[in-house]
Amino acid sequence: MRTYYLRSFGCQMNEHDAERLRHLLEAGGLAPVGEPEAADVLVYNTCTVRESADARLAGHLSGAARLKRERPGRVVLVTGCLPQAEGVAFFARFPFVDGILGPQNVHRLPELLEAAVARTTPGDAARAPGGAGAAPGRPAFVEDGPHMSGELPGRRARPFQAWVQVMSGCTNFCSYCIVPYVRGPERSRRPEAIEAEVRDLVADGVREVTLLGQNVNAYGRDLPGPGEGGGGEAIDFPALLASLDGVDGLDRLRFVTSHPRDLSERLIAAVAELPSVCEHVHLPLQSGSDRILGAMRRGYTAEGFLDLVRRLRAAAPDVSVTTDLIAGFPGETEDDFAATLAAVEEAAFDGAFTFVYSPRRGTAAAELPGQVPEDVRRHRVARLVDLTQGLALAAHRRWVGRRAEVLVEGPSRHAGGVRGRTRQHVTVNFGGAAAAGTIVEVEITGATSTTLAGRR
Ligand code: SAH
Ligand code: SF4
Ligand code: F3S
Repeated sequence: MRTYYLRSFGCQMNEHDAERLRHLLEAGGLAPVGEPEAADVLVYNTCTVRESADARLAGHLSGAARLKRERPGRVVLVTGCLPQAEGVAFFARFPFVDGILGPQNVHRLPELLEAAVARTTPGDAARAPGGAGAAPGRPAFVEDGPHMSGELPGRRARPFQAWVQVMSGCTNFCSYCIVPYVRGPERSRRPEAIEAEVRDLVADGVREVTLLGQNVNAYGRDLPGPGEGGGGEAIDFPALLASLDGVDGLDRLRFVTSHPRDLSERLIAAVAELPSVCEHVHLPLQSGSDRILGAMRRGYTAEGFLDLVRRLRAAAPDVSVTTDLIAGFPGETEDDFAATLAAVEEAAFDGAFTFVYSPRRGTAAAELPGQVPEDVRRHRVARLVDLTQGLALAAHRRWVGRRAEVLVEGPSRHAGGVRGRTRQHVTVNFGGAAAAGTIVEVEITGATSTTLAGRR
């Protein structure tokens, strides 16, 4: 086994897990290749948040099945949220897969790989470690064992940007969402461990850190308070931001995702006041109908959400507020949907991810009456796309004629130009030379709904 191909899907948490998987594979002596055809080990790090994610993966796996038929000695592993949701039933659908591993067991990849190699090497079965559930000819899987993978190092895609996991899991159980079932309960990392990691990264050349968690605003709640289990919180998210803001040499601090229910006045103040904290908050609204928000178990009303947005914009006038929206949740009427359109317009989002509701097995919403027909869901999402693109274009146009601070990420798609991001997380393309990893001032000269254009 000399080469590996890894493909990752889903959220930033999953991308970050992919960095750790790469680190483990490379520590084991495997070299990365860009094409599955050239690889001895194929790893698919999966997402199952919506049915479309499953469908996309099935396409990639049929390619892997063909490669496996051509050379049965190849190892095919599937990691991430899909096999975690399906368990061993996964193998009934994809019998050619040699091993699976859930997101709570990323650190056990070497064990899984060893078991999977033994499986694909006839006569070598004696070497298969029992711990990974391997048996000759049978696929390998790692039994569940809660573990905090936050401490595992990863191989970063860019030397000057890094993700840092502040929490794992989610215990919110929004009624449509499968994440709590596949990622386990919400657990915060110790603040000292997070700060030490950020210091090490900055010493290693990182200028921008993005803190990751499914609900970062709940950070610290599960940590023992002062006096070991005593009253009070050890630390909360605004306090964590303040301590990281003090790390010398860290230029930009970002975080995803914020849950509106847990967004505090102090968090708003942190965005407005801490110099390294970027003026961007990703704040998923999901729906603008209070009835639907209740059925989703989101814990806020449309008016409460809009009040947060108003306070954010008042405290930090350049803040960009982006969101996630779901169209066609069970029971959603035309009136409910109209309330979503109205709330979206009122919030004047700078950007949005819009999703067709997708029933997930095991979630509460999948069992609700009044499932909305597919064509209605699709039609509504198309209307949301139209509205949110128009709002994003208007928000971006307001930057034309102003100067923006841009962290250069690399060459742009247009020959001779470079590309970077503003503090608001908007991509800027501009002409002239600037080294990746540097921060420059750019005059904004044009805007689309997704990008800005500029010159130095
Ligand atoms: N923890 C984050 C979201 C993680 S999932 C948060 O709560 O904000 C990312 C987005 O996928 C969600 O915000 C939601 O808009 C969408 N999503 C999750 N489950 C979905 C489902 N079953 N159907 C459609 N969209 C879904
Ligand atoms: Fe899913 Fe809700 Fe948790 Fe986000 S907060 S991951 S939407 S259950
Ligand atoms: Fe997908 Fe798992 Fe993230 S289901 S959205 S990769 S937590």
